[in-house]
Amino acid sequence: MAESDAHVRDAVAVLRRGGLVAFPTETVYGLGADASSAAAVRRLYAVKGRPAHHPVIVHLGGADALDEWAAAVPPSARLLAEAFWPGPLTLVLRRSARVPDAVTGGRDTVGLRVPDQPLALALLRAFGGGVAAPSANRFGRVSPTTAADVRADLGADVDLVLDGGPCRIGVESTIVDCTGEEPVIARLGGVPREDVERCLGRAVEVRDRGAVAAPGTLASHYAPRARVHVVDAAGVPDTAAGLLGVGRAVGLLALDAPGGLPAGVRVLAAPADVGEYARVLYTRLREADALGLDDLLVIPPPPTGLGAAVADRLGRAAAAGTEER
Ligand code: TXA
Ligand code: MG
Repeated sequence: MAESDAHVRDAVAVLRRGGLVAFPTETVYGLGADASSAAAVRRLYAVKGRPAHHPVIVHLGGADALDEWAAAVPPSARLLAEAFWPGPLTLVLRRSARVPDAVTGGRDTVGLRVPDQPLALALLRAFGGGVAAPSANRFGRVSPTTAADVRADLGADVDLVLDGGPCRIGVESTIVDCTGEEPVIARLGGVPREDVERCLGRAVEVRDRGAVAAPGTLASHYAPRARVHVVDAAGVPDTAAGLLGVGRAVGLLALDAPGGLPAGVRVLAAPADVGEYARVLYTRLREADALGLDDLLVIPPPPTGLGAAVADRLGRAAAAGTEER
């Protein structure tokens, strides 16, 4: 038996006895519990430090399980599932009778996703049921994209960590809410808006704030300790000089470092393109903290395709200084 098969078998056993398994997905690592066990899901929330009314995504091993977990699936949701599963897309749908209140925060909807990661799929298929899994970080911290990130954040509170290496995409799934008149994007993520619109053959609104806002849309969810400032290239030298002048430790994250940088700015390793920007984003935010930076200046990528999700997370990280943590 391959080593990974043995790990998957152990992980299934942990889930079956109500334990918590951290596992890689193509987006970020998830912290999984048996979605059918209210007790397991309660423990998941306790370890996350997550308020009980925040719903959690149920991960499935294949699109064939869709109708077990959702009721009244509209044609738009079927089109999206067919086009993007397995993949970085979460569909919010009316829940079926088998979905326990514990995973929905008491709502009548459920978030469902089939991840595109070999270990995740092996785990989900071997387990057979749904796996409730938020990102495997404590509430309000940066999402983990390596097994080491998970261990650093959750320590002994997780029963088993499946190590699948660094996540291929690096930002969370796109959430499409299909419970209203029209599908709306509730969180930008790994599937670009343009691809969702192409699949559905029409414009799709991004509505990630307001009454139905998901907790993943709180600013503080994506923030490091360092204060994040979104800047454009022209503004970097002056902003950096001002902060350095009052004794702050200043870093920069950008696809290209602009000229005229004052001495003393720590330039974090630049991503080569937008895909790499997404992949390394959370790692760089952790690095900013590890370096003891007080301020991180960030130049977002152009907000199209995957760049929109990166720009979104950077914007939230920057806004976090202005809301409660
Ligand atoms: O890429 C991802 O989506 C990762 C991996 C592990 O799959 N998961 C993730 O989970 O980011 P989490 O819990 O950190 O964020 C899930 C988001 C939350 O904002 C939550 O409110 C929203 O999905 N969500 C889940 N179920 C929902 C529902 N029934 N209605 C509205 N929003 C829902
Ligand atoms: Mg999260």
